[in-house]
Amino acid sequence: MGKLFVSNHPIIAHKLSIMRDENTPNDVFRHMLDDISALMCYEITKDLQLDEYELKTPIKQTTGKRLSGQVVLVPVLRAGLGMLDGLAKLIPNVKIGHIGLYRDHETHKPVKYYCKLPSNIENSEIIVVDPMLATGGSAVDAIQMLKDEGCRNIKFLCLVSAPEGVEFLQRSHEDVDVYTCALDEKLNENAYIVPGLGDAGDRIFGTD
Ligand code: PRP
Ligand code: URA
Repeated sequence: MGKLFVSNHPIIAHKLSIMRDENTPNDVFRHMLDDISALMCYEITKDLQLDEYELKTPIKQTTGKRLSGQVVLVPVLRAGLGMLDGLAKLIPNVKIGHIGLYRDHETHKPVKYYCKLPSNIENSEIIVVDPMLATGGSAVDAIQMLKDEGCRNIKFLCLVSAPEGVEFLQRSHEDVDVYTCALDEKLNENAYIVPGLGDAGDRIFGTD
């Protein structure tokens, strides 16, 4: 079973509460999501491997360190785009893939509409990002699309998750570690997370 990491960082809790507030305007919502993504970047990249190399400081020869693997971020469109920059600005030489999925309003099942991935990503460290893990259908399908391309080292990062979604994701992809800022109570009858923050895509982009 993959690891489940639930943040208990006070700054993340503070900013996430602002995001949950229905009166928070779109620009503040986007800003908070960007900040939280950067803070979570620290956690999700903690176990990346390093190589050593020789360098010379102005004082003497010494050993430097650099990331040994290729990191690829994969936002699930649309809402995953809101987390992209917070991570991408911190990870050296990062590449980015895009997976487009939307939830059908009646069935709540994900519908695929886009996939563009960097070439030769089989051995990369993949981080799939999407603010909301509700039923888990979108995350499970996005990860399956990556596995179908040969990817093996996959982590999933979200902002808010429901127990139902975490359970479905961990059962469907036992090798994938899940990182979340909050594990909420449940889903409602429309498969929205309770208390959640509403529709993440709409709140990021100002649509409804
Ligand atoms: C939201 C969210 C996830 C999905 C989560 O996307 O960003 O992708 O729902 O729900 P699930 O766990 O039940 O699959 P949505 O379908 O609203 O599309 P959008 O990002 O384009 O708004
Ligand atoms: N998608 C969202 O944006 N919010 C939810 O609560 C569930 C799915």
